[in-house]
Amino acid sequence: MIPREIIDEILYRSDITDVIGSYVSLKRAGSNMSGLCPFHSEKSPSFTVFPATKSFYCFGCGAGGDVITFIKKAENLDYPSAVEFLAARAGITIPEDKKYVKSDEVSRRRVFDMNLEAAKFFRQCLFDEKIGAPGREYLAKRKLSGATIKHFGLGFAPDSFNMLTDYLHSKGFSDHELTTAFLCGKSQKTGRCYDYFRGKVMFPVIDVAGNIIAFGGRVLDNSKPKYINSSDTPGFKKSRNLFALNFAKSCCSEEMILCEGYMDVIALHAAGFENAVATLGTAITPEQARLMAKYTKKVIISYDGDAPGQNATNKAMKLLSEVGLEVRVLTIPDNMDPDDYIKAHGPDRFKQLLESGKTGFEFKLNGVLSKYNISEPSQKIRASAAICEIIASVASAVEREVYIREAAKRIDVTAETLKNDVERHRRKMVREMRKNESSEALKTVHRYGDTVNPDAAKNVKMSSAEEAIIGMLLQYDDHRAAVANGKIELTADDFFTDFGRRVFRSVMELEMSEGGFSFSLMGESFNPDEMGRMIRYVTERKELSQNTLDVLRESVNTLKKERQSHADRTGDDPFAALRRKREALKKKKDEQ
Ligand code: UTP
Ligand code: MN
Repeated sequence: MIPREIIDEILYRSDITDVIGSYVSLKRAGSNMSGLCPFHSEKSPSFTVFPATKSFYCFGCGAGGDVITFIKKAENLDYPSAVEFLAARAGITIPEDKKYVKSDEVSRRRVFDMNLEAAKFFRQCLFDEKIGAPGREYLAKRKLSGATIKHFGLGFAPDSFNMLTDYLHSKGFSDHELTTAFLCGKSQKTGRCYDYFRGKVMFPVIDVAGNIIAFGGRVLDNSKPKYINSSDTPGFKKSRNLFALNFAKSCCSEEMILCEGYMDVIALHAAGFENAVATLGTAITPEQARLMAKYTKKVIISYDGDAPGQNATNKAMKLLSEVGLEVRVLTIPDNMDPDDYIKAHGPDRFKQLLESGKTGFEFKLNGVLSKYNISEPSQKIRASAAICEIIASVASAVEREVYIREAAKRIDVTAETLKNDVERHRRKMVREMRKNESSEALKTVHRYGDTVNPDAAKNVKMSSAEEAIIGMLLQYDDHRAAVANGKIELTADDFFTDFGRRVFRSVMELEMSEGGFSFSLMGESFNPDEMGRMIRYVTERKELSQNTLDVLRESVNTLKKERQSHADRTGDDPFAALRRKREALKKKKDEQ
């Protein structure tokens, strides 16, 4: 476990508005800040940061918690890794021996060190007179200069089962570490490690901090699979990194080029387009879109001209515009990819292509028009309907206006007619959206399908009392003290829901601990959904003016009373029947 003092120091230096502000663009809203929730899709901001209580809450999806919970969710990390992440951000080093390491866990640092050694090995092999010849020949065939090869740290994995394994063993890395980093596989038969990348040109993937986080390896011929890539390791998630962002980050503030492949990026950088990046053998993810939005304003999608490339373009357009990026699309002629195109026509022609990059709308419009023959009336109607649908989904009225005019020209109808159709479609969409939203809201109100606190649905009175109690205990020192010193009698057994009991135990344990209560420390035992729920209880209490000790006492009484009558009614309490019998007996006696 990371010691409490260190966590407190990290929390002290991690301003929640700052941290969240680097993921979400926040605007001041009274004493709070609000923005578009990064955890669900929304058009108007329901995500709120409360600087006073160092917490956040999304009124739309219920995500909430403290700064560590935010990092857990946004970066998909466990509690100790999220703490380490914030430590690194705040420039605090956690002493190696104080880190939380499970006995069989390989640390991020160790994986990075191992990858660095492996990259050195691959590079040595590439430049080795004999061993590297096939690799050098291949790269020469792809027209890569020596300077480019060095710049990207390319290498060669020899066609051997043990050279890398032996090398890394000699550097003190264990079999377990080698397989964790996906540099080696383990033979089922012999139980021995063997080199995972063999006979491949190697592309190291480097993160913005300069760590080598993974490798891609390409075969030298036409065999399949063309590329193999490291799988996710501690410290590396493919879905959250981009190839060459380490280089692109310093020259992409205006625009960034997104390609499909390693070779495209390398060819572009070599031709002077150093703002090019690529996803890592996968389709683009929302995390990657957010990552790009941190570095640039505009993304030019430059995928392969073939059919799969064009489908991927549609998906990328959606994700990129959802995070607020301006999107342009390049259509590279003749099914070429950027690498082929630059080789065939040179950088200047590619630059022209870049400048003629179409807006996302033009790209979609062309897509529709290529599917229909609009000189035929019935097809013209279908094309027009498809275009209406596209324009109707654009949020800005000004933008819709521009597109309507443009599309009207292209399909030869009046802008007025098209506009009417678009607006009708839009009203229908808004109606449907409202319907979906309200059924979502109803679900929460009725506590239906609640996975965080499933017991709550069994008795609304009791669970409301619990929510009030927890909401107050989490925010007021006095209230916790009153329970701790027995001024208000409340124990975990008084709680009716399992969730309530767990929260109460954890709050009071921290209250009694040396360092005292800290909401952030609860993140160690509660998942982000549960943390979010607690913030909801706090937020609901905050909106009520009365939160005095008397109100707490009142809620505790309600809970206890309700608990008793519920137990009597349902026979939850094994002693209830006995007690009733005894009372009946007593009554009889009294009557006699
Ligand atoms: P492409 O097939 O378009 O390859 O895959 P490319 O980048 O043009 O490669 P060259 O020019 O033939 O060398 C695009 C990207 O998809 C991933 C790789 O990241 C590749 O760069 N990919 C492709 C794989 O991960 N595995 C594969 O088998 C194929
Ligand atoms: Mn290619």
